[in-house]
Amino acid sequence: MSESFDAVDVISHKRDHHELSDDEIRWVVDAYTRGAVAEEQMSALAMAILLNGMTRREISSWTAAMIASGERMDFSGLSRPTADKHSTGGVGDKITLPLAPLVAVFGVAVPQLSGRGLGHTGGTLDKLESVTGWQASLSNEAMMRQLEEVGAVVCAAGSGLAPADKKLYALRDVTGTVEAIPLIASSIMSKKIAEGTGALVLDVKVGSGAFMKTREDATELARTMVDLGTDAGVTTVALLTDMSTPLGLTAGNALEVRESVEVLAGGGPQDVVELTVRLAEEMLEAAGRGGQDVRAALTDGRAMDVWRAMVSAQGGDPDAPLPVARHTQDVLAPADGVVTRLDAYGVGVAAWRLGAGRARKEDPVQAGAGVELHVKPGATVRAGERLMTLHTDTPERFARAEEALDGAVTIAPAGSRTDIGPVVIDRIA
Ligand code: URA
Repeated sequence: MSESFDAVDVISHKRDHHELSDDEIRWVVDAYTRGAVAEEQMSALAMAILLNGMTRREISSWTAAMIASGERMDFSGLSRPTADKHSTGGVGDKITLPLAPLVAVFGVAVPQLSGRGLGHTGGTLDKLESVTGWQASLSNEAMMRQLEEVGAVVCAAGSGLAPADKKLYALRDVTGTVEAIPLIASSIMSKKIAEGTGALVLDVKVGSGAFMKTREDATELARTMVDLGTDAGVTTVALLTDMSTPLGLTAGNALEVRESVEVLAGGGPQDVVELTVRLAEEMLEAAGRGGQDVRAALTDGRAMDVWRAMVSAQGGDPDAPLPVARHTQDVLAPADGVVTRLDAYGVGVAAWRLGAGRARKEDPVQAGAGVELHVKPGATVRAGERLMTLHTDTPERFARAEEALDGAVTIAPAGSRTDIGPVVIDRIA
C-alpha cells in the first residue's frame, strides 16, 4: 500500500517546531497502529512532542485519531444518564470503590472501565480482585445489563477500545515520554470518549505521589483534558486534588477494599469520605442530577446496598473475609513530636515493593500486601509509637520497603507549623 506521508517528514516537522496538519496526524496514528510506522519512528515523534508540545488543534486531532483506531461504545440505549470518573493515579486512591455505588444510588449509571496498577500507583481491578470470586472481564452485553439493573460496573476495558493508545502507551513507558502533557491528555481522553460516557469528572492528582508534581503542570493537564472532553460533547469537569500524602490510611489491594467498605458503612477516614462525596456531587451535577444529599447515602446504607449488588453481579462474595498478609512489621516513630510530612511517593513505593504492585504487566500481585498508616500529617506522636504497619506474604521484602520509607516521614518538635492543605485544591470546568 502506498503511504500518503513519509514518517521522517512528520517527525522532522515536529522536531522543527511546526504544527502537524490534521492529515499528517490521522495518517501517523493509523500507520503506527497498522505497523507501517516503526516503533523507533514513533518513539522519535513522541520525544519531539514531549520537547516541543502541541497546539489545542493538534491534541484534539491526535485524540480523534486514537479514538478512530478502535471501537466506540454507546450507552444511549440505557434508561439512565451516565457519568464516569477518571483519576490520573495516586497512592491509596481507592475512591472508585465507594464512589461508583454511591453515584448509582441517585439514578446515574457509572460505567467505570479501569486498569491495573503499574509502578507505585495501584490499579482498581487489582483491588477488586482481592474480593473472593470477583471477575474483571465482562462482555459488552453483561456490562449493559449490569448498568441497567445495578447502576454501576467496574470492569476491564476491552482490547477494542483505542488500540493505538495501548501500543503507544507501552512505547512511551520505555522511551521516557510518559510525561508529555499532550500525550497523557490524549491517552486518557481517547479512552473516555470512546467509552461513550455522557459526563466525566477528572481527578487530576498533584504532588509527590502523582505524575504531575507541580500545580502548574496539573492545571495545564486538567485544562487540556477538559477542553478535549467538551469539544467531543462530553460534559467534563476536573478537580485538582492533593497527592503529597496518601489518601486515607491504607495503600494495598485488600487493605484498600477494607477501607472502602468502612466508607460505605458510614465511617472511614475523613479525607477519603470528603473526596468521595465531592466527586459524587460533581458527577451527579454533570449528569443533570445535582442538588442531592450525597453524604446521607453513605450513612443510611443505600450506597452499601449498591456495592453488594455490584460485587455480586460480577461473581464476588461481599461477605467473604478479605485476604490478610501472612507477615507484618511495624515502623516506629524515632522521636517525640508532630508529623509534618508523610510522603505519598515513599509509601507508594513501599507498598509496591511489599507485593501490592507489579514491576512488569504480567507479574501477579499479593492481595494482602501493602502499608497501613496509623498517623497522618498533623498527628502528635511519642518516640516508639507505631507510625505504620507493613504487610506482606514474603518477609524478605521488608528491608527494601523500609528503604523506600527512609526519609518519607518528617517529625518536627511539638508545636511546629504543619502546612496541611485541603484535599481538593482547585476546580477546572
Ligand atoms: N493514564 C493513561 O491512561 N495514559 C497516560 O498517558 C497516563 C495515565
